[in-house]
Amino acid sequence: MKFIHISDIHLIGDEYHSLYGINPRFRLKKAFQSINKWHKDAKFIAITGDLSNDGSKSSYSRLEEILKNSMLPVFPILGNHDIRDNFRQFFPQYTSDNFIQYSKKIGDKIFLFLDSVVENNQYGELCKERMVWLENQLKTHKKESIYLFMHHHPISCGLYEMDNVGNFKTEDIFWNLLKKYSNIKHVSFGHIHRIMHSCKSGISLHSTRSTAFQVAFRTDCKEEYLTNEENPTYAIVDINKDGNTRVHHHEYMNEDRVYLGEC
Ligand SMILES: [Fe+2]
Ligand SMILES: [Fe+2]
Repeated sequence: MKFIHISDIHLIGDEYHSLYGINPRFRLKKAFQSINKWHKDAKFIAITGDLSNDGSKSSYSRLEEILKNSMLPVFPILGNHDIRDNFRQFFPQYTSDNFIQYSKKIGDKIFLFLDSVVENNQYGELCKERMVWLENQLKTHKKESIYLFMHHHPISCGLYEMDNVGNFKTEDIFWNLLKKYSNIKHVSFGHIHRIMHSCKSGISLHSTRSTAFQVAFRTDCKEEYLTNEENPTYAIVDINKDGNTRVHHHEYMNEDRVYLGEC
């Protein structure tokens, strides 16, 4: 089984406005063109938050318009830049709860989409209500392989600002719950605008780059992020018969520039 992971698309209300010199809408449309071309066999696309850069209704309207051209089902979650009520106006299927959390059963696997947002704050958390929901899901699906999606990084990424200001505040209680379940296979997350892989309590994790702008790996910066010119990616996640994942990160903007070569 294969799914596609997109993150941090940061759409802006004014489609002609640029963000750090790039156009998020243009880059996202290119991602969907690439996915439609190469990955029709994937089961779904997950977008792990920061759907909007400014939380505006017009940015969600643009997202709705772009998603109409997706050949695959798309499962979005929110990030710290998003506004739940504005999102819900364009995606009314997510109106049933205080938060944007939901589960999907595909084949014999369970995919849990979490809401780690504390609106108007950079940091994230799973409050008691959201943790109860997650625990109930885990108790209900003890026999299936579980895959989690969330915006904030549930593990240190090594960048000061991300780990101290924009961090996931309920990391300890989150992992105390996860380590009780041996059927949780993988966590896909966003927020750090970088490719990162890790493993904790036997669970593999990854993030992929933003489809908009990237964050430089500069450990000398204590109070700011630096963006750079790294290309956007999306991740192609294959789940093998044992439930484990293989993750490729694809730089799609110049994907037609390929040449014969030997490795
Ligand atoms: Fe972001
Ligand atoms: Fe974020």
